[in-house]
Amino acid sequence: MAMDDLALFLNEHEEEAVEEFRKRIMVGEHDQFNGIIHLNGQAMYRMVADYLRSKITHEDIKQLAYKVAHERNQAQINIGDFVFNVCMGRELVLKVLQKGPFPAAALLPAIIKINECFDIFLVHAVSRYTELKESDLEEKKLFIERSHKDRLTILGQMASSFVHEFRNPLTSIMGFSRLLKEDYPNLPYVDIIENELHQLNYRVSQFLLVSKKGAVHKNKEVFSIALLFEEILSFLYPNIVDVNAQITCTIDPMLLLDGYRDEMRQVFINIISNALDALQRKNGDKEITINGYRNDEMTAITISNNGAPIPRDLLPVIFEPFFTTKELGTGIGLYVCKEIIERHGGVITCESSDQQTVFSMYFKDS
Ligand SMILES: Nc1ncnc2c1ncn2[C@@H]1O[C@H](COP(=O)(O)OP(=O)(O)OP(=O)(O)O)[C@@H](O)[C@H]1O
Ligand SMILES: [Mg+2]
Repeated sequence: MAMDDLALFLNEHEEEAVEEFRKRIMVGEHDQFNGIIHLNGQAMYRMVADYLRSKITHEDIKQLAYKVAHERNQAQINIGDFVFNVCMGRELVLKVLQKGPFPAAALLPAIIKINECFDIFLVHAVSRYTELKESDLEEKKLFIERSHKDRLTILGQMASSFVHEFRNPLTSIMGFSRLLKEDYPNLPYVDIIENELHQLNYRVSQFLLVSKKGAVHKNKEVFSIALLFEEILSFLYPNIVDVNAQITCTIDPMLLLDGYRDEMRQVFINIISNALDALQRKNGDKEITINGYRNDEMTAITISNNGAPIPRDLLPVIFEPFFTTKELGTGIGLYVCKEIIERHGGVITCESSDQQTVFSMYFKDS
């Protein structure tokens, strides 16, 4: 009965309490609910009175808390302001009751119930608010990721079609410079031009292999790995001499691979070029060891060099596109290797110690 009296007293003083609340609430100038926030205060005030009468349940408080949390999230408010307003509302309710003719014995259980009501409200409102904020953030993050990916895809397509178109005039210029050299063997600078054109062609091919365009028209074939390495080592001969590296190549002459020969050629060239780069900066013996063998129904190829090791923390990222530690590197060499090897159903790994850096490739029999 005492609770009913207290509740009634609260109802009678609602107008002044809500007015006081309206004056003291913290609300942003741009809050779209500015001007009607005190109505939430009013709803809360009535709820407290009804809670004292045991007319409403925990669930009713939760519903109001959810509604308010939604509004506060829409208004993008500072959660601190919100908690301040709720606590200030609680204080006002208690002040109203203090003015009444109630003995402390009646007030105490009411205060406990009022605190309970506000606590339930706050817990639900703040946790709902946090959930909403997090899901907004998640949505924004997804949106950014998606549009970033879309842009990257478009950029990639533009770049690869651009590079593709690049290739035809390049092939023709290379052909004419060869003719020029045949017709005028003493013409100066043609060697330099040819060399630069080969570099350019190498980069273009590399790029097309990443964009996978290059692989479309070719057929798979079974080829000898030993012969492929013979061809590669003579192609890289000028660079090997330049670095002064010792190459030891031990490949089972019967070792065959079923795949795209041009792509595998690019893989081995990339790895040997990296090894040569590493050895270029080294003093003393410069060794590259290439092995090809069969092991447990697998074809294994390893290429190692005794240059400075790859720092342990960089090992996990060397196959990432655009990771490079070289001033003029593009960082796609190993990325291309990994893509190609995986397209062939193989795996590529790298181990590096003070003694040597080893790139190993394994292909399971299909
Ligand atoms: N044999 C190696 N010894 C030491 N570091 C290596 C070796 N191979 C690769 N790396 C490291 O891995 C990085 C990535 O190699 P990757 O071939 O992908 O790119 P890059 O050689 O820098 O540029 P490019 O696109 O011209 O090949 C290199 O910059 C280098 O730091
Ligand atoms: Mg490289």
